Amino acid sequence: MSEATSNGPLLVASGVTKQFGGLTAVDDVSFAIPRNAIVSLIGPNGAGKTTFFNILTGLYKPTLGRVSFDGRDITGGRPDKIMALGVARTFQNIRLFGTMTALENVMVGQHTRMKAGLFGSILRLPRVRREERHVRDKAAELLSFVGLRPALHDQLATNLSYGDQRRVEIARALASDPKLLLLDEPTAGMNPQESGDLTRFMERLRDELGLSILLIEHDMKVVMGVSEHVTVLDHGEKISEGDALTVRTDPQVVEAYLGKQEAERQRTEDGVG
Ligand SMILES: Nc1ncnc2c1ncn2[C@@H]1O[C@H](COP(=O)(O)OP(=O)(O)OP(=O)(O)O)[C@@H](O)[C@H]1O
Ligand SMILES: [Mg+2]
Repeated sequence: MSEATSNGPLLVASGVTKQFGGLTAVDDVSFAIPRNAIVSLIGPNGAGKTTFFNILTGLYKPTLGRVSFDGRDITGGRPDKIMALGVARTFQNIRLFGTMTALENVMVGQHTRMKAGLFGSILRLPRVRREERHVRDKAAELLSFVGLRPALHDQLATNLSYGDQRRVEIARALASDPKLLLLDEPTAGMNPQESGDLTRFMERLRDELGLSILLIEHDMKVVMGVSEHVTVLDHGEKISEGDALTVRTDPQVVEAYLGKQEAERQRTEDGVG
């Protein structure tokens, strides 16, 4: 893979705030994603994690604050432009085209990289046919890379298991040649074996393709195993960040997850035991 073009962080969010009417879903969050790293964003339901993703990918404009990617200001930029710069994502609720095959779903993901316009596609010029074949081959390669068995490449997406649909979604995101991959709860609905496979797969993306990954995840085993850095949101605010151990033992984090009473109870028990 190509060398990093600069040494600063890949993505920097500064003072990002998003309000929906009277609700502040993301509240003055500053955050950086290093190059070639896996970092996680965690927090209770409704903490603002997906909203933060939606701001990074241009789906929402922040009410306040700035986002820069690879040294460029992308605040409020169009989603397709941000994707073309190298930010790809998967969705909390899988968004595949159910009536298209796994392979076709991934081919769609490459359209930001295709040169042939509509005109060329209609005329099916030789150059275009070559490009289409190349796109098909690359899609098959990506599906194999994410671990989808070749026999399933031509299955309709809707007929695949949940875990396999997640794989196709990741392959589609990778088809745009991203530098940063945002995964919104990728292990939701997966069994422990599949979650373990995905954890190792994320490490391969970092080590073999040089990607950075920002992971939203409720499965703490996955988060703690794979993340170099963890950021915790609660009610839109960043309440803690650091390495997995620091965050896991931070009383504020324990409280946000378990509630004040339960956190008190555990502290007392620790004191006694
Ligand atoms: N488009 C929207 N319009 C109004 N309110 C919204 C919108 N999107 C999110 N919210 C609200 O913003 C808050 C944060 O939601 P968000 O989906 O970002 O949380 P989350 O951390 O991803 O939660 P979960 O873990 O359940 O996925 C919630 O109170 C939610 O209801
Ligand atoms: Mg969410």
